[in-house]
Amino acid sequence: MNNHSWQITGHSDIPILVHHYHSLESTNSEARRMAMENASAWTVICADLQTKGRGRYHRKWHSPAGLGLYFSVILRPKIDLKFLNMINMRAALVIREILQIELSQADLQNEYTVQLKWPNDILVNEKKICGILLESEILSSEVKYLILGIGININHQGRDFPVELQETATSLKLLTKQNWETNRFLNKVLPKLQQQIILDQEAGFKNVILEYQKYLAFKNQVVEIKIQNQSIKGCIKGIDPYGYLLLEQGNETRTISTGDIAN
Ligand code: BTN
Repeated sequence: MNNHSWQITGHSDIPILVHHYHSLESTNSEARRMAMENASAWTVICADLQTKGRGRYHRKWHSPAGLGLYFSVILRPKIDLKFLNMINMRAALVIREILQIELSQADLQNEYTVQLKWPNDILVNEKKICGILLESEILSSEVKYLILGIGININHQGRDFPVELQETATSLKLLTKQNWETNRFLNKVLPKLQQQIILDQEAGFKNVILEYQKYLAFKNQVVEIKIQNQSIKGCIKGIDPYGYLLLEQGNETRTISTGDIAN
């Protein structure tokens, strides 16, 4: 059921059209269905709850009603495939900045370190608050559309997370002891995201990596990275121009294109 829709006028003349649903299997699946039916770029699907919310590597994204912000943005950028990572990295940067500002304004007593865990998780004081899943439809080396799916933990209490995540996840409510309005947060993120992606396209995405490195979690620390069934150890040195992780192992620096930092 489509409950209501609203339009946000951002910093450009491209309207952002948000469709809000009470319940969906996955906002990414609904956005993909609409993209296949030619929905325009900057159509956004959000839901109070998802029954089949998904994360990276086909993991489940637990999506209880009203506690998280679950949304997906249809994008149709003109972008060279080798720069595809810049889109989710930019999304992570935009949300990181908004979280940092909102947290400092809501709570002057505590300090919050909001960092980016490669490739696109956001951590507050080393616990995960946001995950991003970018799905793409490519035809003859051209992007037909991208679905940028974002989940942010807003009003969760500890017990609202699955047991295995209770030690490693956090939410705005857990951090600040107050309730947050999910749609207000969405309306802040979308215009900023649109403005930045338009600027990035004009600049050939050249600033994303520099900015991303500033907030990179575990920099110069030894970490364990899980890649499928394998696990490797090394020291994080930074990010290469395409968004891959640079991992130092002895005298060598390896480039890691995908995986999960286990810390
Ligand atoms: C991850 O950390 O593995 C990525 C999680 C992405 C979750 C969001 S919630 C909205 C959108 N719809 C989905 O089914 N997944 C993404």
